[in-house]
This record gives sequence, structure tokens and C-alpha cells, in this order.
Amino acid sequence: MQKLPFEFSHGGYIKEQAGQQRIALRALTTEAIDVETDFDYLFPDSARDPNSLLPAENNKDIIKKLKDLGEAIIDRQNPESEDTNSIIPPVYTYWGQFIDHDITANTDRAVTDLQTDITKDDFTPLSPDFVTDKLKNLRRPTFDLDSVYGDGPTLDPENPTQAKDFYQKDDPVKLKVGQNAEQDASGNPTPGAKIPPENDLLRDLPRNNRIAAIADSRNDENLIVAQFHTAFLRFHNAVVDWVRQNEPQNAQDNKTLFVRAQTLVRWHYQWLVVNDFLKTVTASGTVDSILSDGLKFYHPRNGNLFMPLEFSVAAYRFGHSMVRAAYDYNRNFTDQPGALTDATFRLLFAFTGKRDIGGPPGPGPNATLPFNWIIEWDRFVDKESAAKRQRNSARKIDTHLAFPLSELINEGNKDPQDQDPIQKLLRHLAQRNLLRGYFLSIPTGQSLADKLGIKKLTVEELQQDNSPELNQALEPFLEKTPAWYYVLKESEVRANGDSLGEVGSRIVAETIIGLIKNDPFSYLNEGEHDWNPSKGVKLPNGGEIRAISDFLEFAGVLPRS
Ligand code: HEM
Repeated sequence: MQKLPFEFSHGGYIKEQAGQQRIALRALTTEAIDVETDFDYLFPDSARDPNSLLPAENNKDIIKKLKDLGEAIIDRQNPESEDTNSIIPPVYTYWGQFIDHDITANTDRAVTDLQTDITKDDFTPLSPDFVTDKLKNLRRPTFDLDSVYGDGPTLDPENPTQAKDFYQKDDPVKLKVGQNAEQDASGNPTPGAKIPPENDLLRDLPRNNRIAAIADSRNDENLIVAQFHTAFLRFHNAVVDWVRQNEPQNAQDNKTLFVRAQTLVRWHYQWLVVNDFLKTVTASGTVDSILSDGLKFYHPRNGNLFMPLEFSVAAYRFGHSMVRAAYDYNRNFTDQPGALTDATFRLLFAFTGKRDIGGPPGPGPNATLPFNWIIEWDRFVDKESAAKRQRNSARKIDTHLAFPLSELINEGNKDPQDQDPIQKLLRHLAQRNLLRGYFLSIPTGQSLADKLGIKKLTVEELQQDNSPELNQALEPFLEKTPAWYYVLKESEVRANGDSLGEVGSRIVAETIIGLIKNDPFSYLNEGEHDWNPSKGVKLPNGGEIRAISDFLEFAGVLPRS
């Protein structure tokens, strides 16, 4: 297998080259991707105030109770009932995951020189000083798509980049894209219909021996995020073509061309993150008020951008509750008549490099993604269908998690039968999130609400509509509620699960806009200060890229109907 610059997996990572380089706030393509940047607390005082934390004493008891709470929020209904559907189209779930992978990594790793982590049933929470000193983010916290570009192509043979193999040999300013298989590894033809545009079978990640050759391997964790990453590779390549055709002055040499294309891709992405993604998942008015009145809570520390732990370990994990147990994925894999079978969570995780693309529990293995598994994005982006609360929507942002999230198939030793308590915990995302928050001393939901000046959830609200089992598990945490649970419940009782509530919205929007506003190279700062899509690439009909569906269309993965 070819050596990749960066191999991530949840619960651990392999760094092929230990770089000690600290981040400089530069968005140059020549920078190494092997970076370590700072995590810090948005509210450092709260993280150091015992009144704002779950008790550090009785840790064994708290750990057990957090596990009980994690289990109590799993929704075991199969199939999922219609009242779990939000009005958010499901593309936002995976776009959200893609964003997470672009800006934050490593909170799920034991601090390397420690002998303890969340798998020990008597761990003690780490002190905030220790966390900020030892735990490092393995991503640049800028929306620069280092998860896609790595450190860029090799345009000067004297200075090869780590990511050089991700770029096309004949046209090094373009990223490689993978070819879809038409038969399995034994030569049997692939069943099912082709996905329009039928003759376009360049809709997989590039792979070496099934493993995705991309700058963040977490983007091959499940098939939907993998297809989203594929869209980014294709969007970049389409932008290169567009620059060649429309801005010949920027295409005279490969370096100028690549930098121009990459800049356009980044600005389109950042603009969409703020104006489409954030406005969809946060409470109405939050984004506009931050853009017009300025940031209130996120400010660089000592001149450096940092990733707030309250975001990575609590608020931004809201996306976990939007994940469905099954999707209307395409004409072959859906619950609609005529399909081959349903697109279950297990199959969506099986058709990835981490599971041998269709290896158990799928029928595979295949060397690359079979054409019948190409996504039909029109089933994922439509706000009108989602508003009908059909299957073409994300799950509500609430305290009910789809059951496969307690049985993750690509975590731990990947043996779903292994009943070893550590393996069971590694497969249980809700328990991991709650324990991670305790381990890393994340302030409680109530203390975050106080800091943000937002009315706290009452005990009645925390208990509202809960099952008796959930209320029993929640009992020890009514006064001091784990921040992740709090954000989910706030969304449930104050926004009907159709967006984040105020605390969640503020933390998520302040962090994301704070990172973009403080990046001197972002669309808000560089060159024209008010860059917007009218200054970017255009669709063949002259349309601008103003929504994620336009982006997918420009990438050639969402045919226009
Ligand atoms: C599609 C299914 C998903 C799975 C199976 C999944 C799984 C995981 C796992 C296992 C972790 C590490 C947990 C720990 O031990 O601390 C994690 C971390 C995380 N997840 Fe997800 N996730 C999914 C989707 C999402 C989505 C949709 C979002 C946000 C919109 C999200 C945001 C995060 C964040 C922010 C982290 C922390 C990253 C870091 O280390 O800094 N995830 N996820």
C-alpha cells in the first residue's frame, strides 16, 4: 500500500512524520499538512471553576451514570418513526461532518503521554491546563480545505509535497478522482441501475488498494461523507477548467492557475458555510447578528486562532443526532419499490475503504466503489421535501440518537460480536461523547448558558417528553448537565429539533464565523472585502453558486433536472 501523509481514524491516528511545526496563519499551499494547532476553552474561567463542571470526585460513579445516560438516549426504533424527521435536508449532516474534519481532529485520542483515557472506568477528568498544554489539534482551524488539498501539488520537482500523489500526473493542478467499478473483484457484473449522468463513472475517491488516497482519511468513514469529499475533488477540477476558459490571464503557469483555482474553491466553500450551512442549522438571526454586530465571544488568543473545546467536544457534535439509521440514497438503495435493498447505516459504512468497500457486512469486496452506490444528491438537498418531514430529511437535533450509533461498525477492533467492555464502549458514540466531555473538563450546559447570557433550560424543560428511563438516567445531571446533552435538549425543546437552540447556535456560529473572520486569507478579508458568489465561478446557465445544490451541480454530481 502506498504511504499516505496522514492516516486518521476515530479513537487514534497514525502520524507518519511527527512534525513539530506550529501553525502560522498562512494559507499558502506549500505549507505542510502535518500541523499541530491549539485547542483552548472558549470560557477558560468556567473550565477552571468546579461549580461549572461535573464533580471530579466520585468519578467512578459519574462515569457509570454518564454511560447510563448515553444508553438512554439511543432510539431503538427500526425503522425510524416519522416524528424523528426534521426540516433540514440530510446533506447538511454530512456537510457538517466534512467541516468537522476540515478544522478539528484529535479530541478522541488519549493525550499521548498519559496512561488513562475514557476506556478506563475510573479515569479522573484532566485539568484544563494539562489539556491545553498537551492536547493538540491536528488540523489548521481555518476553512482552507487542508482535508482536501493537503500541502498542495508538486509544481516544483525540487520541492516535492507530501500530498503530491493526490494530484493528477498529466495535469498536476487537478486532483485525482476515483473510477467506479462495473464488476466485483471476482468479475461478477454489478447489479442495479446506473445513476445519471450514466456514462460518468468518475464518482469515487481515488484509492490505492481500496484505501482512499485523500488528505483526511476520516472522509472515507462512511459513503455519504466520501461522496461529499468526491464532490469537492470534482468541484476543484471544474474550477480549474473554468479559470482556464474564463480567466486566461490566471492560467499562464501552473502555480498561478492552482492558486487562483484553490482560492476560488475556498471562498465559495467559506461563503456557503456561512450563508447556507450555518443559516440552516442555527437559530434564525444568529448569523446575521454576528456578521453585522461582530463577535462577542470568539477572539484569537495570543494572536493565534484556536479551536474551542466547547465546540469540538460538545456543541458541534450536535450533528451526531442528525444521522439517520437508513437513507433514501439512490434508486438502487432505498426503501422505495424496485430497489435492490435499503441504504442502511451499516451498508453505508461497509462501502468504504475502512471496510474493504462492501466487505462484511456488505457483499464485496470491491476494489473501488461500484457504480450502483453512486449517490443521487437530489434526494439529499431539497428543502421542500425535507419540510414535509419525510425520509429525505436529517433526524431532528434532539436527545434521540439513531441506534446504529451505539453499534459503530468501523470502531475499535471492528468485531461487532466482541463483548469486551472497552470494545463495546468504542462502538457507542453517545457514551463516548459524554465521557469525552467529562474527561476534557467541558463546562456544563448551564454554565455555558450563563456565560452567553442565555436563559437556562429549566428542570422541566430538561425532562420534557423524556421516557421514564431517560429521566431516571438524567436525574443526577439535572443541575449540572453535560454540555453535549444540553445542546441537544435545548434544540429539542426550544427549536423543535429543526435547528440548534440559542446556546448551541451561539457556540457553533461564533466559532465558525470567528475562524473565518480572523483568517486574513478568507473571503471576508482578502482582496475584495465583500467577496460574494457574483465574483466567483458560474454555472453553464450563468447561475451563481449560492446553495449547496449549485455547488454539487458545478461539480457535475447533481444533474440539472
Ligand atoms: C456519520 C456518522 C458519524 C459518526 C459515526 C461519527 C463518529 C465520531 C466518533 C467515533 C468520534 C470520536 C468520539 C470520541 O471518542 O470522542 C467523533 C468525533 C467528532 N464528531 Fe462525529 N461522527 C459522525 C458524524 C458527525 C457529524 C454529522 C458531525 C457534525 C456535524 C460530527 C462532529 C464531530 C466532532 C466535532 C468530533 C470531534 C472531532 C475532534 O476530534 O476534534 N460527527 N465522531
